[in-house]
Amino acid sequence: MTKKNRHLLASYDLQAEEVDFLLKSASALKSNPNRILEGKQLALLFEKPSLRTRVSFQVAMRYLGGETTYLAPQEVGLGEREAIKDVARVLSRYLDIIAVRTFAQEIVEEFAKFSSVPVINALTNEEHPCQALADLFTLYERVGTLKGFPLAFIGDGNNVASSLVVTAASLGLDVRLATPKGYLPSERVLNEANLRANESGGRFFVTDIPEKAVEGAQAVYTDTWVSMGQEREAEQRRIVFKDYQVNKKLLESADDSVLVMHDLPAHRGEEITDEVFEGKNSIIFDQAENRTWAQAAVVAFLLGTI
Ligand code: CP
Ligand code: NVA
Repeated sequence: MTKKNRHLLASYDLQAEEVDFLLKSASALKSNPNRILEGKQLALLFEKPSLRTRVSFQVAMRYLGGETTYLAPQEVGLGEREAIKDVARVLSRYLDIIAVRTFAQEIVEEFAKFSSVPVINALTNEEHPCQALADLFTLYERVGTLKGFPLAFIGDGNNVASSLVVTAASLGLDVRLATPKGYLPSERVLNEANLRANESGGRFFVTDIPEKAVEGAQAVYTDTWVSMGQEREAEQRRIVFKDYQVNKKLLESADDSVLVMHDLPAHRGEEITDEVFEGKNSIIFDQAENRTWAQAAVVAFLLGTI
């Protein structure tokens, strides 16, 4: 597979060995940043708010000698002021690589089809592949070998959950997912996670009972119940997910030293209690920090400089 004009649009765009390569590269760059992106220009075209993704891409580019241009929601009018395919072709003439945060997955796919430079999914409704890489890198840093590592995701089968289960299954983790009925990731994601778990010797287990997913887990991950763009469903979702809170009682079925994970922003008292969020086993801010290094590796990989 050639690295030229590769995009990262979804977690399943990466083969298992590429995920492994990216984690090792993130680790190497974190301990020894070098100017492998000297003169490279990244655009951040964002249609939703962001703290971590935006800043970590900007910092990563600066560390490695590159530059960024940030385009805020409302600035470009993707598909409204101007056709997606035109924005993609214009930005490709100015920049070396483009990270897009948007709504439907089809938007980033359409964008990539017309871009002559690599495109990175910086979050869509369906996928958040950069987050998953940072999360697996954080676990890799902590525990070394990830094969068989029991990781549970509790809550909504959303973008974060989807990218996480596919990426973790690729690396052979023992992946458990607990979501209420009707809130599973897409069939495509479930199939990919199953396939990859079979290939890697890992496991992918789906349930609607959080305690079953958490039993013996060494890391428990959750995310918001109401993702960006779902604000109108907020009330209904808080009812559907109320038994899926990551709290002290739920963690009693996990390993004693269970690591607590969240991609942020967090909603204390909803998907996670303040006590668990702030507990000694929380690695939430390590995950946030590692966004920089995972994305540094992704950019360098797609540009062929590593
Ligand atoms: N976790 C994450 O992607 O955060 P932001 O939405 O702030 O970028
Ligand atoms: N699932 C969340 C993730 C935020 C980083 C959302 O899409 O809003």
